[in-house]
Amino acid sequence: MMTSTRKAILTIDGQEPIELPILEPVHGHDCIDIRALAGKTGLFTYDSGFVSTASCSSKITYIDGERGELLYRGYPIEQLAAKCEFLDVAYLLKHGELPDAGQKKTFVDIIKTHTMLHEQIVRLYQGFRRDSHPMAVMVGMVGALSAFYHEAWDFSDETHRNISFNRIVAKLPTIVAMAYKYSIGEPFMYPRNDLSYAANFMHMMFGTPCERYEPNPVLVHALDTIFTLHADHEQNASTSTVRLAGSSRANPYACISAGIGCLWGPAHGGANEACLKMLEEIGDVSRVPEYIRRAKDKNDPFRLMGFGHRVYKNFDPRARLMQKICADVLRELELEDDPLFKLALELERIALEDDYFVKRKLYPNVDYYSGIVQKAMGIPTSMFTCIFALARTVGWMAQWEEMILDSEHKIGRPRQLYIGVPRRDVPPS
Ligand code: SDX
Repeated sequence: MMTSTRKAILTIDGQEPIELPILEPVHGHDCIDIRALAGKTGLFTYDSGFVSTASCSSKITYIDGERGELLYRGYPIEQLAAKCEFLDVAYLLKHGELPDAGQKKTFVDIIKTHTMLHEQIVRLYQGFRRDSHPMAVMVGMVGALSAFYHEAWDFSDETHRNISFNRIVAKLPTIVAMAYKYSIGEPFMYPRNDLSYAANFMHMMFGTPCERYEPNPVLVHALDTIFTLHADHEQNASTSTVRLAGSSRANPYACISAGIGCLWGPAHGGANEACLKMLEEIGDVSRVPEYIRRAKDKNDPFRLMGFGHRVYKNFDPRARLMQKICADVLRELELEDDPLFKLALELERIALEDDYFVKRKLYPNVDYYSGIVQKAMGIPTSMFTCIFALARTVGWMAQWEEMILDSEHKIGRPRQLYIGVPRRDVPPS
């Protein structure tokens, strides 16, 4: 972050103007440094939803919303999706560089040998109703990790931070798969160390003790790439939740559990589940105009799920990659005529020809096609956001560690614009 010589001059009520430094990033918007504002003027800034606010400095991910560009540690998402595996990307997000062959082998071996859960954690699933939403189970199970792992909690110690990162990245697939198995009453499948990260996850999701499960390599590659597309995304709502929770020095498992809770919302990571339900409700291309009209009607709470984004005001590069993954998977499964995929393509075409969406720069986001491809792979709708959380955990942990190591960071404690009842006394009894 470079403090430029440029200043923002603020004059309030004709008083003596104050100068505020302008910070110039490597990429993206220049920022007015307002940290001294309250001290100099007694005034706060107001920015509900943080539309115009940079909450931190970061070196991990950059999004150019106008150009539809997403960079992880400087690498374009398109190149990472084409050339790297998810664990390469996990290593990159945490350590800042792609692993060399030796680093990759060491990292993969560590992840493979930490995929099992403590048997007492496994018993916790029994406390949930079978029909619990799997995201509720994930919030509970990931938070419960902090009840089992106490030793690695001196986060000034890099070894402890690495133990926490490796442990949670390794165990998330097991936790997610067990949540699914529990919901359908099938026995848990324990991890297989002979399989890759994505293949092992599919084994734990779809395998049974009755026969050996060999995951389809095309689907494994598709899932591994889906993990990469979801790995990190700047200071979105759930990542900001993880950072805010971590700023109090809460342990990383509790912070990730908080992030999972935030991601669950249909305006955020829950949109893929909501999008598939929306497509199933629309049902047929003939009904698309009715739903486009509803999406534009301010009196109708309906929104086109999987459309729009706070940052992307052009296409979401992940949506384009996801559309291709979707086509590849449907072709492999001989489902090219999948009605939902055809409906989604037609809905996108019609929406992007409509002035309402064009003027507001509303395009498909990462959640628009991800539900279709996951459904085709046999993943139930209720599990879509769990897959999102599984992948995003590497980004959350990288962002948590960056916040811990930031010498400027303080406990996050925003102020407010109080619009309640003026001061008053309790009436005499
Ligand atoms: C994710 O932040 C991230 O990076 C998130 C994420 C990540 O990787 O972490 O990318 C993952 O959460 C993707 C977004 C998934 N959510 C959805 O698909 C839900 C549907 N989308 C909308 O709810 C909305 O677009 C948001 C929440 C995504 C963005 O909302 P903003 O930035 O607050 O935009 P807005 O609500 O102010 O909308 C601007 C205008 C409004 O109309 P006007 O008031 O200007 O007339 O666009 C309209 C909105 O009504 N609008 C939509 C719409 N999205 C915005 N109208 C119809 N359908 C939509 N989907």
